[in-house]
Amino acid sequence: MTDSSIKIVLKNVSKHFGKVRALDGIDIEFAQGTLTTLLGPSGCGKTTLLRLVSGLEPVTTGEIWFGDENVTGLSATRRDVGMVFQSYALFPHMTVAQNVGYGLRVLKTAPEEIESRIREVLQMVAMDGYQSRYPDELSGGQQQRVAVARAMVLRPKVLLFDEPLSNIDSKLRRSMREDIRRLQQLSGITSIYVTHDQAEAMAVSDEIILMRNGTIEQQGPPQSLYHYPATVFVADFIGESNIITAELIGSGGKRQIVFGDIKISVSVDEQMPYANGPVKLSLRPEIIELLNSNPNADQRLKGVIVQRAYMGPVIEYSVETKAGTLFTRVPAHSHQFQVNEKVYVHIHPDEIIIIPENDDNN
Ligand SMILES: Nc1ncnc2c1ncn2[C@@H]1O[C@H](COP(=O)(O)OP(=O)(O)OP(=O)(O)O)[C@@H](O)[C@H]1O
Ligand SMILES: [Mg+2]
Repeated sequence: MTDSSIKIVLKNVSKHFGKVRALDGIDIEFAQGTLTTLLGPSGCGKTTLLRLVSGLEPVTTGEIWFGDENVTGLSATRRDVGMVFQSYALFPHMTVAQNVGYGLRVLKTAPEEIESRIREVLQMVAMDGYQSRYPDELSGGQQQRVAVARAMVLRPKVLLFDEPLSNIDSKLRRSMREDIRRLQQLSGITSIYVTHDQAEAMAVSDEIILMRNGTIEQQGPPQSLYHYPATVFVADFIGESNIITAELIGSGGKRQIVFGDIKISVSVDEQMPYANGPVKLSLRPEIIELLNSNPNADQRLKGVIVQRAYMGPVIEYSVETKAGTLFTRVPAHSHQFQVNEKVYVHIHPDEIIIIPENDDNN
């Protein structure tokens, strides 16, 4: 982290476009020097939130702070933010060096300083040697790196990325997201990154903010959203999940969950607000094991394979059970089942996620 890293704070921020409530009462703190991802379905308000932080769009109500400065009333040019968009928007008639140096020339930075800053930042994005090329002489990934360099060369207080990788093919996307992560950590610039790809969010983020209909559904490090989804929406959005209905009984940290025709003992975190009664469970595919014999009848669901797909290293199965149809994935080298075959479904009890909050919208 550099000394100049700042935290970004949004206080009760709302943005309305006529009757559309694009954002509603958002309170967030983006810790200094971190990369936070705004994740969520199309139309949930990610781009709007980014535009408010950048100053391209004014808030309807609320305040935005960069460190101890209230920037709510400041225009985009006075906020000191760098932005990288989905379309890299490089100037086609300028070389890489001219593109990267453009902002510094506007600021009337001394030519020697411009030259050394361009060299430094192109080195950071591994594009030194490309100074004299034009954008149409570069691959999509290289253009995107130039766009990142152009934003970083100004040494902004804040870096904003809006789906920077969505025009790039999936293989390159993986290496590009690692580049962005590395550059962000190297520079220590507080960054906000928008995507609707949860795998990308998991890979690049210190924190993920999962948004829904203009509000924050849950915020936390990737692991905590994955392992402790607060709502069905989160469990469904982050990773793959079988959501089933069950009944929670017992007391304290030792409880039982009843679903389908089985009862499984589980230890629950007593700090969590688990109320007995109907609950939703999230069962990740990797915790569901299929067996062809059953020494432990009351612990395992009976099922029938209804679908099977060969995926190379793994085989994906859909299994119909009394608790609903479950999706699972098992290594191809383990025992293979055929469609219509009867199986017993073992669910690893320690890995069952009980979703604390019942969500009526799912
Ligand atoms: N200028 C505008 N005028 C009216 N409504 C708008 C405007 N900009 C955005 N909206 C609305 O605000 C909501 C949030 O839009 P936003 O662009 O922030 O979504 P998003 O999460 O970025 O979606 P996507 O993943 O599709 O990019 C949507 O309902 C959108 O239609
Ligand atoms: Mg958007």
